[in-house]
Amino acid sequence: MILVTTAGKVGSETVRLLRERDVPVRVLVRDPAKATARALAEAGAEIATGDLGVPASIDEAMSGVSGVVLVSPAVPAQELNVVASAARAGAGHVVKATSKAPADSPIARRRWQAEIEAGLAASGIPHTLLRSNAYMQNVLALAPAIAKTSSFGSSAGKGRSGLVDARDVAAVAEDAMIRAGVPEQIAEMNAQAFSLTADGDAEWVTEDVPSLLGRPARSFEQFTADYAAAFS
Ligand SMILES: NC(=O)c1ccc[n+]([C@@H]2O[C@H](COP(=O)([O-])OP(=O)(O)OC[C@H]3O[C@@H](n4cnc5c(N)ncnc54)[C@H](OP(=O)(O)O)[C@@H]3O)[C@@H](O)[C@H]2O)c1
Repeated sequence: MILVTTAGKVGSETVRLLRERDVPVRVLVRDPAKATARALAEAGAEIATGDLGVPASIDEAMSGVSGVVLVSPAVPAQELNVVASAARAGAGHVVKATSKAPADSPIARRRWQAEIEAGLAASGIPHTLLRSNAYMQNVLALAPAIAKTSSFGSSAGKGRSGLVDARDVAAVAEDAMIRAGVPEQIAEMNAQAFSLTADGDAEWVTEDVPSLLGRPARSFEQFTADYAAAFS
């Protein structure tokens, strides 16, 4: 049994892909009545109701689990709760969604990722880190402005950013598994990230998706075609 810790962008697609391969999968959600949770249940996933801030609910969801796909808003205490629970349950592998995560980053959420990665390493559980650049789905936040004005603004200036479709991150997570809020702070971190992007900090892409999946990564053109309705 694989436990996927949330049903967000990456988590829900990971569950869907695992079920497509008939892999037994359980997904932890806060609200099983949400449409995403209901769709995943229909696809054959077990739904565990819980909260990553409540260790007992994680332990319950962890019962009989051999592998964990750790993807969440990446609050250190919450993801480290999952790591501790996985260690108690003797899980064999953790695949964690992360980002550029230097421990001395000026952006707090990158330092938090570093803290979680360190905790995961210290747990001794074999693991895979999916270190992604920005998800294409972030662009959906601009969709209302684009639909209205056919344009958007950004404080990243001419800084370029590598992008990956969150569905491809999920496909890599599935593959790896099979093979082995504080609003003000968030706003501040976003501003810091844009400022670093303006300086070229985000101008990187990797060949990980094509080399691991044996097919091209989804292009940004494909992404915009798939989500065209949101922008029109
Ligand atoms: N966005 C990017 O550009 C980017 C780039 C690189 C890496 N990443 C990494 O990707 C990860 C985020 O993945 P994502 O984009 O798939 O997430 P997401 O779409 O934002 O979904 C987050 C999910 O977490 C659930 N959740 C929040 N708090 C919870 C709690 N206390 N207990 C249980 N569930 C909780 C939410 O459920 P509800 O429906 O109940 O709210 C939601 O389903 C982070 O580690 C981030 O650093 C993101």
